[in-house]
Amino acid sequence: MPTKLYSSIFPSVVFLSLVFLFLYSTLLPLYTNNHSSSPPIKMFLRSFSSSCNLFNGHWVLNSTKPKPFYDEACPFHRNAWNCLKNKRDNMGIINSWKWVPKDCRLERIDPWKFLGLMRNRNIGFVGDSLSENFLVSFLCILRVADLGAKKWKKKGAWRGAYFPKYNVTVAYHRAVLLAKYKWKPKQSKVSDQDGLKGIYQVDVDTPADEWISVTDFYDVLVFNTGHWWGYDKFPKETPLVFYRHERPISPPLGLLDGLQVVFENMVHYIQKEVPKNTLKFWRLQSPRHFYGGEWNQNGSCLFDRPLEEGQRI
Ligand SMILES: *[C@@H]1O[C@H](CO)[C@@H](O)[C@H](O)[C@H]1NC(C)=O
Ligand SMILES: *[C@@H]1O[C@H](CO)[C@@H](O)[C@H](O)[C@H]1NC(C)=O
Ligand SMILES: *[C@@H]1O[C@H](CO)[C@@H](O)[C@H](O)[C@H]1NC(C)=O
Repeated sequence: MPTKLYSSIFPSVVFLSLVFLFLYSTLLPLYTNNHSSSPPIKMFLRSFSSSCNLFNGHWVLNSTKPKPFYDEACPFHRNAWNCLKNKRDNMGIINSWKWVPKDCRLERIDPWKFLGLMRNRNIGFVGDSLSENFLVSFLCILRVADLGAKKWKKKGAWRGAYFPKYNVTVAYHRAVLLAKYKWKPKQSKVSDQDGLKGIYQVDVDTPADEWISVTDFYDVLVFNTGHWWGYDKFPKETPLVFYRHERPISPPLGLLDGLQVVFENMVHYIQKEVPKNTLKFWRLQSPRHFYGGEWNQNGSCLFDRPLEEGQRI
C-alpha cells in the first residue's frame, strides 16, 4: 500500500522557513513602530495578502543559489537529526531548491537585520517536532549574526537560544497536542478482551503546562499541531479520550472531532489570554516524513524533490 507514498519534508520545511522568515522580516519593522497597538499589523497583513500570496508559487532548482548559512558544527543541531553531520544523501540537491512565489520577491533572511529588528524581544514556538525542526534551523541561521548565542531552556522550554548581542530569546515549547494530556493506566481489575492498556486524558480546554504560563514572555508566538493526531501515535490500546472540566465528554469524540474541539478551544484561549500585542502565527502542516513504511519498518525519507502540483501522499 505505501509504496507510492512520496513526501517532501525537507522542501516543505525550507519553504515554510522561508515564508516565516519573510513574514518576520517584513512585518517586524511595522511591529516595531506600532509596539503598543496591534491593528496596524492586521491591516498590513490584509493588504499584503491581497497583493501577494506567498503560498502561490513554484519550486525552482538552482544549484548556484547562495550556500546555506550554517554547517554541521552549529551547536543547536539535534544530533540524530543533523542531516549534515550524518551525511544524509543528496543534501546538495535539497539545498538547491528555492521557493519562488508568483507575484512577489521572497528575499533571503538577513540574520543581522532580523535580530536588529527583534532587539529586546522574544520569539516562541509551541507545538510538535515540525516547530522544533524549524527552530533548530532558525537558531543556526540567527547565530551567524551573534556567535555568542547560548543554549536557553528556561520557563519550560524544550530547547532554545539566547542571543546576547541583541538581547533576543528564541525558544521552543514542546506541546504536541497543544492541549494538556496525561497517561491514565487501566484499573487492572476487569479483564476484558479489548487489549486496552489505559488512556490518554486530553483536557480540551486546558493548554499544556509547557506553554500555559509563558505567553507573556514572548512578543511573537508560532503555534502548530498535526502529526500526533493519528492512530500511529495513539492506537486503540492507548487512545486519546477527551475531557472537559475533568469529565469525559459524552458521547466520546473520535480523534478528528477531538482535534477540532481542541483547535477551537486553543484558538479561543490564545485570543483571550495571550496579550493583544503578541504577534501570533499558526504554522501549517507538512507531508509525512516517511514513505515505503514507518520509521521503524524500513520506511525511507530520502526525498530530493518537492511534491508535484496536485500530488497526494
Ligand atoms: C540562481 O541563483 C542565482 C544566485 O541567487 C541567481 O543569480 C540566478 O538568477 C538564479 N537562476 C535561476 C534560474 O533562478
Ligand atoms: C532584554 O529584553 C527584555 C525584554 O525581553 C527587557 O525586559 C530587558 O530589560 C532587556 N535587557 C537589556 C539589558 O536591555
Ligand atoms: C526490513 O528489511 C529487512 C531487509 O530487507 C527485512 O529483513 C525486514 O523484514 C524488513 N522489515 C520490515 C518491518 O518490513
